[in-house]
Amino acid sequence: MTNLMSNFRRATAVMLVTAGVAGIGTPSQATSRSTETRFAAGAAGSGDPYFPNAGNGGYDVLHYGLDLRYTPPSDPSVLAGKLSAAATITLRAEEELEALNFDLRGLAVTAVRVDGKDTGWTQTQDDANRVWEVTISPKPKLKAGREATIQIEYGGNTGRPVDTTGALYGWVTTADGAIVVNEPDGAATWYPVNDDPEDKATYTFAVTVPEGKTAVANGLPDGRPQTKDGWTTWSWEASDPMASYLSTAGIGNFALSYDEGPGGLPIINAIDADVAGQALTQTSASLALQPQMVAFLEDRFGRYPFEAFGATVDDDSVDYALETQTRPVYSGAASEGTVVHELGHQWFGNAVSPADWQDIWLNEGWATYIEWLWAEHRGTATAARQFTDAVTLLDANNRWALNIADPGRDNLFAGQVYLRGAAALYALRAKVGDDAFLEGAREWLDRFDGSSATTEHFQAVMEEASGQELGAFFNDWLREGDRPAMP
Ligand code: ARG
Ligand code: ZN
Repeated sequence: MTNLMSNFRRATAVMLVTAGVAGIGTPSQATSRSTETRFAAGAAGSGDPYFPNAGNGGYDVLHYGLDLRYTPPSDPSVLAGKLSAAATITLRAEEELEALNFDLRGLAVTAVRVDGKDTGWTQTQDDANRVWEVTISPKPKLKAGREATIQIEYGGNTGRPVDTTGALYGWVTTADGAIVVNEPDGAATWYPVNDDPEDKATYTFAVTVPEGKTAVANGLPDGRPQTKDGWTTWSWEASDPMASYLSTAGIGNFALSYDEGPGGLPIINAIDADVAGQALTQTSASLALQPQMVAFLEDRFGRYPFEAFGATVDDDSVDYALETQTRPVYSGAASEGTVVHELGHQWFGNAVSPADWQDIWLNEGWATYIEWLWAEHRGTATAARQFTDAVTLLDANNRWALNIADPGRDNLFAGQVYLRGAAALYALRAKVGDDAFLEGAREWLDRFDGSSATTEHFQAVMEEASGQELGAFFNDWLREGDRPAMP
């Protein structure tokens, strides 16, 4: 794949932001943050500094059962669909709750039951302040520690939601169906959710679509699709704990194909029938490498963390790829570099997720560094070469000015988060040595598997593995507004 580096560079060069943005090197950001719950019972937000209204307080979701009936656009030139759905949410109250909230955006609730009993609710839709809440008042109130099942019936028209930067995300209506990419706070565009990456849960999906359409989601199929009266229900089960921003569903004219990774890992790919020509050739070649990529990463970082893998490739979706758990989404085509990037996220980002959105470099730095390792393995470019190229890009226009350990809400996916993040990992490896670096990486994955952690946790694990004090190193490589000391 000789075009791997150039594609990568083109993609990242476009995303780079120049100096003068939020979060310029303030070492005080290095003070440790708690991942303990910071909310009051029933709070309408999880307290994330970037997305204070996303997520909710006072409970822990164990499972989402999503039953979705979807009508794709009848006129493909008008990208509006229709969703009619029921969510069955199993949760545990962490405090005594007389009210609890879910995030739900642009869809209307029509019924709520708590443990089977009809219950009152109110809904807030405040687009200007990005507050989208359903408030439920169970009677009697929920006792701390108690499990409850909340059923919410809801629905409405679907469109093309955008995030705070104007990028398409969430439930994106397409000409032949829909594609779903939630990161960071888009899950509420299709189900009532505690949209906080610290509250992971298992999921089941029953997606009912017009006969002839295919519906995919995270995880593994749960039985064969069932057709009745012109509608087909596709059932999927994701039994590994998952952050809501990683949940997905894809509806369209997809062809499913199957492969197997190391240890019999099921690989399921869904490719839009409209992906053709060069895009299909490139996509097929990249996806055919998935089993080898899994083996390559397992050798370095330990066992692949989930029950399945694969891809959803849609022709008309959004202009980026996303590491949706077990089944990343690709737009138009899947390049080799992007596939190994999204696979790398299954360990770094999905098994261990950022506790707060400001920890995003732990996702993107690692996934980009993994692209470098894979390209080196393939003989395309050494990691050293890719590090030097990244540094050259960052040197231009003082792009070191962005503090990637707190880049600001609208710089989550700035090129620096990817490139400086990967360069920081490369430099860390040079500083502590191969053994401590890989031991630290495995310990990180082991200790926080199935949960979320911060940059400070990562530093602590790397300090333990290396026996070195790394505060100054991480400030230099992540936070300070000038060129770090090169290895
Ligand atoms: N996490 C994705 C990836 O690097 C990128 C998401 C970009 N999102 C956006 N709104 N541009 O694979
Ligand atoms: Zn990424």
